[in-house]
Amino acid sequence: MARGHHQEGLRQQPADVLVVFGITGDLARVMTFRSLYRLESRGLLRCPIVGVAVDDWTIDHLREHARESIAAAGEPLDAAVFDRFAARLSYVQGDFADASTYERVGAMIKGADTPVFYLEIPPSLFGAVVGSLAEAGLTKTGRVVVEKPFGHDVDSARRLAEELHQYVEESQLYRVDHYLGKMGLEEILFLRFANTMLEPVWNRNYVESVQITMAERFGVEDRGHFYDPVGALRDVVVNHLMQVVAAAAIEPPAGGDPQTLMDAQVAVFRAVADADPAHYVRGQYDGYLGIDGVATDSTTETYAALRLEIENWRWSGVPFFIRAGKCLPATQTELGLVFKHPPRLGFARLERNPEPDQLVIKLDPSTGVQILLDAYRADASAAELITLDMEFAEEGGEGATPYEVLLHAAMVGNSTRFTRQDGVEETWRIMQPLLDAPPPVQGYPPGSWGPEAATALVAGHGRWYGPWLGS
Ligand code: BG6
Repeated sequence: MARGHHQEGLRQQPADVLVVFGITGDLARVMTFRSLYRLESRGLLRCPIVGVAVDDWTIDHLREHARESIAAAGEPLDAAVFDRFAARLSYVQGDFADASTYERVGAMIKGADTPVFYLEIPPSLFGAVVGSLAEAGLTKTGRVVVEKPFGHDVDSARRLAEELHQYVEESQLYRVDHYLGKMGLEEILFLRFANTMLEPVWNRNYVESVQITMAERFGVEDRGHFYDPVGALRDVVVNHLMQVVAAAAIEPPAGGDPQTLMDAQVAVFRAVADADPAHYVRGQYDGYLGIDGVATDSTTETYAALRLEIENWRWSGVPFFIRAGKCLPATQTELGLVFKHPPRLGFARLERNPEPDQLVIKLDPSTGVQILLDAYRADASAAELITLDMEFAEEGGEGATPYEVLLHAAMVGNSTRFTRQDGVEETWRIMQPLLDAPPPVQGYPPGSWGPEAATALVAGHGRWYGPWLGS
């Protein structure tokens, strides 16, 4: 008991060193250096950074690589900020399978009370690396941040947690889902409950269906080796889009602490029925099979569309339609609420029935809100949909990027930005029937909205709407 309290206290301490395993890899090049640099420029980076990797690099090589990576990510470089950032970096070269690597890491971070270990390495290595850190006595306090994916189905997620829990407590384990760092996701939760005109209609009495679209114009490109064993459902639906489902469907959390927020989220996931393969459409864009790293007979989906049901008082009977795909006509992620049809209007001569109102929150490529209403317009002969929309960047600009938010949260010990094991298991449980009995994959031309069969999924609930905002 006393130990638990003591550790809880320490876990809230800011990091006194950040140790990045896999610092010479792709994720670091594309995301990590830039995010850390931006934190430095905002005065939010406060500790040394130790990179660990097998490559035989000097510290100068690492610093130069960091400079190039930040520039290549499109970030304008300020020399003074970069120098401050580069001065924090040091490097430990070593094989992750070799105990002496961890001795050297230990020597490098000697005296640190709250080390944060960030594992940008394949998940198959998580157990061994955390085990070796524990053996070297480095994980008693501090935190371990692991990149996605956390398991590839419900059993493997459980096994991985069991393995890691031998060495660290759940509260020390920070699982990355970068959607939890997105401004748009926070916006959904805040808008819903901070606005009296929204909350009362945000339920099955007024909402007919909910649609979540994650469209990407680009394809799998050079990520064939990663993507082919994974597919759209595991890559973005079970994690990222389920975070959107949770934010859209959750009850108002009574507190802002991690446990209260997670409890509210897990309560939603528990209410989601197991997904039904009869309401699941898988697509693969034409040309996917030619990508390097993709099996020539691959049946991996690059498009997934499905329907979920949430069995609780707020949502029972309101289908949640989700679709995600690569090589679609636009890059945009949004949540849309489609409201119920009004009755026939006796007083107005309409050429059609009024359209249902819609409320859209856009998460990507920028944050925005749009409301669609049926109204008269002077330039039309009859009523039409009008749009009220707002790009958040126009008022206050875009916030920090997701990885800045997450790395900062990990360093200050704010676990609300990370997923918890019971939530992870619930989302795998929901998707497991789709993994067990996937329907055949159907081809679609790049630049289209996916296989025709996805249209039938929303039959009786209007159509797939949007995306409503241009990117
Ligand atoms: C990643 C997926 O987790 O999220 C990618 O592996 C996907 O396939 C990406 O493109 C999308 O995230 P964002 O924030 O860039 O829209």
